[in-house]
Amino acid sequence: MYYPEEIVEEVRAKNDIVDVISGYVSLKKKGGNYFGLCPFHNEKSASFSVSGGKQMYYCFGCGAGGNVFTFIMNYENYTFGEAIKMLADKAGVQLPEVEDSKENRARENRRQKLLDINKESANYFYYQLRSPQGSVGMDYFKRRMLTDETMKKFALGYSNKTSNDLCNYLKHKGFSDELIRESGVAVFNEKYGMSDKFWNRVMFPIQDSNHRVIGFGGRVLGEGEPKYLNSPETPVFDKSRNLYGLNYARTSRKNNIILCEGYMDVIAMHQAGFTQAVASLGTSFTSGQANLIRRYAENVILSYDSDGAGVKAALRAIGILKEAGVSGKVLNLEPYKDPDEFIKNMGAEEFQKRLEGAENSFFYEIRMLQRDYDLADPESKTKFYNEIARRLCHFSVEVERDNYMDAIARRYNISPESMKKLVISHAAREGMGSEVIRPKPTAAKKVTPQESGEKVQRLLLTWISDYPRVYGQVKQYISPQDFTKELYSKVAEIMFRELEEGNFNPAAIISMFTEEEQQREVAQLFNTKLEHLGLESEEEALQKRTEMEKAFHDIVMKVKQNSYEYHMENSGRDIEALSRTITAKKELEVLAKTHISLE
Ligand code: UTP
Ligand code: MN
Repeated sequence: MYYPEEIVEEVRAKNDIVDVISGYVSLKKKGGNYFGLCPFHNEKSASFSVSGGKQMYYCFGCGAGGNVFTFIMNYENYTFGEAIKMLADKAGVQLPEVEDSKENRARENRRQKLLDINKESANYFYYQLRSPQGSVGMDYFKRRMLTDETMKKFALGYSNKTSNDLCNYLKHKGFSDELIRESGVAVFNEKYGMSDKFWNRVMFPIQDSNHRVIGFGGRVLGEGEPKYLNSPETPVFDKSRNLYGLNYARTSRKNNIILCEGYMDVIAMHQAGFTQAVASLGTSFTSGQANLIRRYAENVILSYDSDGAGVKAALRAIGILKEAGVSGKVLNLEPYKDPDEFIKNMGAEEFQKRLEGAENSFFYEIRMLQRDYDLADPESKTKFYNEIARRLCHFSVEVERDNYMDAIARRYNISPESMKKLVISHAAREGMGSEVIRPKPTAAKKVTPQESGEKVQRLLLTWISDYPRVYGQVKQYISPQDFTKELYSKVAEIMFRELEEGNFNPAAIISMFTEEEQQREVAQLFNTKLEHLGLESEEEALQKRTEMEKAFHDIVMKVKQNSYEYHMENSGRDIEALSRTITAKKELEVLAKTHISLE
């Protein structure tokens, strides 16, 4: 780990999670916890909970969770090192310089240097654009109708015609050749050595959501190949997890994000007041980017080119967004090619109208699909209807499916009844009939025995973390080995040890896991909803004691039963394991008859 455990713990303890998160999210007290709108996904009702007691947050909607470090890392897009620095500063804790492991320090140092090189390069390009030799670039941007203010906002620049200006400048600033090469602003060639990657291009610095420059796109002046040259991926430039313009779009406070393909499109839209525009970075749209968007808006309006490649890219993006839980609409800018051209010709007001008229992504998909069929030919027409039916089956909520069914039937001249019949026959054929014809709108997913086993294990750990005094009652029956998932077992081990020693601290346990995914899982472990009990406060809990004792007994039984079955299945013919399962079976029988008291 990066800093000694005691320091990490000190910084954590001095930053009360409720205080810190209140700085970002408006929280209301409800029972023992605080609730607010989750900053990591879009929602209308508050399912984001912060527990002062546990010093943790957890979102019942999207599963985001962790301690104060995880929160800052995710919200600010910081590394652990950056998050602890910020929180240490806030609490007035002096972080030791030397205790840091050499490797980590070197890596962090390197990242910082790469960011410094990007920043220096952006400055350099910025000044070139505004100096006499940059006038070609300036003229170019002016021709493209950008104002000075816009050029400043996006820190646009120009790279000179000479091929090693920037390298010399950076070397002069004290950066090593190796780092300059790694940053991607220079290229290396056996014959000529190191030279600038970008020359005689107008430059678009790419910033992360905290306005740090992480890479560049450079466009040729006029015609030429390649039209845009982009920085390669580097330790600070991950193209699948950043979006051009997001540093501004994230605070635009519109209820949608406009996703397009080009840097110039983003800039033109921002200039016209559509500050919610972002673009992918010369690569195709990824699920990482969809998740990023989901933090800031629930609707995405896609504005891709209307040519074949653009349609394909749009259809692909719709699927990725859907998977991330974001609904997509598609903008039609015909007869223009992209937002930049549209705005230049038609103006902001017309653009706004097109935004409002953006097409629902399902209708868009079907409209694009239709182009492959000949509706004058009965056979082709039937195939088309069948394909629609197949896609309608994907809506698992009945009301939604019915609404689409009606709308589509109207659009494509088929009676709603016939369409419905097709959908049902499809559903039956593909073995999902029960889900589709089920009368209740929310068809719950089938839970596997393994999932339900893990759920009771989480419940038990949550319960013990909420009411640590019950630990004394269960410890004779439950051991860390009863948790069949490795991570749970590890957490239980730490937790039980701490409970024995009287220093149980759930938020500190999170810090012991370095992977973000694990931190989320641990947070989930301690925050599984004790829903069937509907407990709001400790008092209420005491009033419902018998009910609770019974429920708790149930959970302990289930964990034990699950553990017993699991070990039976996995012990093979090993004598020792066999004797362990026999013991477990006996314990189970005792436990069944034992009363667990919550007093
Ligand atoms: P387009 O070719 O649609 O260009 O590329 P554009 O955005 O309309 O640019 P202008 O208006 O002619 O200046 C869209 C995006 O695809 C990436 C860039 O990110 C660009 O903004 N791209 C395009 C490249 O990375 N390399 C290329 O050679 C072309
Ligand atoms: Mn364009």
